Amino acid sequence: MSHDSGAEKPWGGRFSEATDRFVEIFTASVDFDRRLYAYDIQGSLAHARMLQQIGVLTAAELQAIETGLAEIRTAIESGDFSWLIEFEDVHMNIEARLTERIGDAGKKLHTGRSRNDQVATDMRLYLRDQIDQILDDLASTRSALVDLAEREVDTILPGFTHLQVAQPVTFGHHMLAWQEMLARDAERLRDCRRRVNVMPLGSAALAGTSYPIDRALTARLLGFDAISENSLDAVSDRDFIIEFCAAASLVMMHLSRFAEELIIWSSAQFDFIELSDSFCTGSSIMPQKKNPDVPELLRGKSGRVFGSLVSVLTLMKGQPLAYNKDNQEDKEPLFDTVDTVRGSLKVFAAMIPALHVKRENMKASARRGFATATDLADYLVRHGTAFRDAHEIVGKLVRYGIERKKDLSEMTLTELRQFGGQINDDIFAVLTLEGSVAARNHIGGTAPQQVRAAIQRARGHLPPV
Ligand code: ARG
Repeated sequence: MSHDSGAEKPWGGRFSEATDRFVEIFTASVDFDRRLYAYDIQGSLAHARMLQQIGVLTAAELQAIETGLAEIRTAIESGDFSWLIEFEDVHMNIEARLTERIGDAGKKLHTGRSRNDQVATDMRLYLRDQIDQILDDLASTRSALVDLAEREVDTILPGFTHLQVAQPVTFGHHMLAWQEMLARDAERLRDCRRRVNVMPLGSAALAGTSYPIDRALTARLLGFDAISENSLDAVSDRDFIIEFCAAASLVMMHLSRFAEELIIWSSAQFDFIELSDSFCTGSSIMPQKKNPDVPELLRGKSGRVFGSLVSVLTLMKGQPLAYNKDNQEDKEPLFDTVDTVRGSLKVFAAMIPALHVKRENMKASARRGFATATDLADYLVRHGTAFRDAHEIVGKLVRYGIERKKDLSEMTLTELRQFGGQINDDIFAVLTLEGSVAARNHIGGTAPQQVRAAIQRARGHLPPV
């Protein structure tokens, strides 16, 4: 235990008094940043190899460091590593243990490096990996949506604006709308990854180092695509985390909207879908209940991800150059964001194929809402009526229909012709739901033929699962 002696800290030389125990606990990050251990070791190995190449470490010292770090990794992974608050963070815990194991060679590992460039490197390696995982998770969710779209390519439901019945759409088209949003999310993450994958290592504390380091070598060993151009910038800015949290917030916003639809659709009032029992729970008091807990939780979880975005933005905005300890606060929001997005995408991808789509209920609902009113107006326009006049005529027919509880398609030709003399019996094909969706037959339209083509295009953009 070192809390009675500041001298045992890696930075203890300058200090004559011990750190206050409470301050030690307050400033430590090891409880959460230990999850970076694999990236910290990866970064240290590359740094050590580079140090050996430039003659700072001997081959034997490098060998000792490699063996020591490998043992530490095994100890961590088997739960045999004791993380100490006294050593503050993941970096100093691993380094202290290394020196304990291998002696003097361990003390040389930190040559030409600072925790400032080390932590920035670890965070970037971690985030690069996580983005790749999230892209896989997104791809699974997207392909589940495309599969469902294909299964329900001819299914018709009312499309809504203002949550009022607007025009009929195909369920396949509706599912592909969500797929498009998630495809843009993936694109944003891929773009963000380019700026994440830049190596800060070599920036040292803030100004660079006096050793003749070979940054290109370290970058190659770590798979970085580029090397940071400015040491002050590289150790201090966390814009890459903010950008990721913003992209993650958009993913969650999209999942939340979709979850909201599932919740509405599974209500008794809509009754468009049934969620599989495995994604719902009951009520402890009301025996009839089957609650859509999973979509509700997904909707709710967007809040913490948006919160993380605001946290990191806020922690960054007041910081002068270069590194400040504020940046230690970037970790928990980032880790929480990654966990939340990945968990949400996983549960989503599993829930979608298990959706039971109640085709008849959707269709009946589309029939009730005068969803083909626009088709009738378009028909009148094709027969020479100006659109505004057509709008007026159909409006009157709808009012008539509401009074008599009749959909447009249920009216007789005589009834229809009271309002528009230009209507003939070819109108009935136009007023069917099938006729309405089939008529919207252009790229981006809801016609099943177009949806089939869109499914093929979407599959072409998805990585093979
Ligand atoms: N635990 C610190 C962080 O997460 C590591 C860097 C600390 N650097 C320093 N000079 N105190 O940011």
